[in-house]
Amino acid sequence: MKYLIINGSPRKKNTWAMVKQAKTNLEGEFEEIQLMKTKIPMCNGCFKCIMEGEDKCPHFETVHPIVEKIKEADGLIITSPVYAMNVTGLIKNFFDHTAYIYHRPEFFDKKALIIVSTAGAGHKNVAKYMDETLRHWGFNKNHKITYACGGKDTINTEEINKTAQKFQKDVSSKKLHSPKFMDIVFYNVWRAMAVSKDPIKADKEYWEATGLVNYDFAPNVKLGFFKGIFAKIVFAMMKKVIK
Ligand SMILES: Cc1cc2nc3c(=O)[nH]c(=O)nc-3n(C[C@H](O)[C@H](O)[C@H](O)COP(=O)(O)O)c2cc1C
Repeated sequence: MKYLIINGSPRKKNTWAMVKQAKTNLEGEFEEIQLMKTKIPMCNGCFKCIMEGEDKCPHFETVHPIVEKIKEADGLIITSPVYAMNVTGLIKNFFDHTAYIYHRPEFFDKKALIIVSTAGAGHKNVAKYMDETLRHWGFNKNHKITYACGGKDTINTEEINKTAQKFQKDVSSKKLHSPKFMDIVFYNVWRAMAVSKDPIKADKEYWEATGLVNYDFAPNVKLGFFKGIFAKIVFAMMKKVIK
């Protein structure tokens, strides 16, 4: 298994101690990206990635290799400490640069382990936000480990081991889980936007070129009967609303 670690902390301390513990439960190759070292400039809000294509982003040369590494990995480990009750600026800036993936989801066979540390509060909400972001990207399943260290040099070893082992089992099984109803809704919102009268050019091209436009959900993920019907209804409704 190939694991990619994206560390959203500017340093290798509390959150990294949790990563190190998680790694003791995982077998495979690891690659690390310390976001602090990548020096991605701030997103300047030019909209080029969304409207014209991610290759038009002025920071494409820095962002693209990271996205490619996510594509190559079997499992992603992504981390953030809580900063002012939210993710770090490093993670937020990376998520801003990848906002186009909301429009053009692609990581349907990927699984992640989200690791969040905090002094006292905000860890559950931050993990939830990171989970939602990855699900918008298409991620099939995200496991979460959060911990409030209360300013001490401790980690939640037992919980880390338990969750990391589940993650390892899930990644190596290659089994794809049925998506949540909200994932089906978002997929079909973007799909309907791509076939609308006045679509975003880059979105239309992506949905058509990948063939996703023809599917209720990514074809490698099984929906089952009821979710299949639900997807069709959402798509039909969204086409009407967006028109
Ligand atoms: C700029 C900054 C903002 C922080 N904001 C919060 C916060 O809102 N709530 C909280 O409980 N801890 C907060 N913390 C504490 C960190 O989340 C906590 O120490 C974390 O474990 C640090 O992880 P690291 O060692 O990987 O950097 C903050 C720390 C810093 C440096």
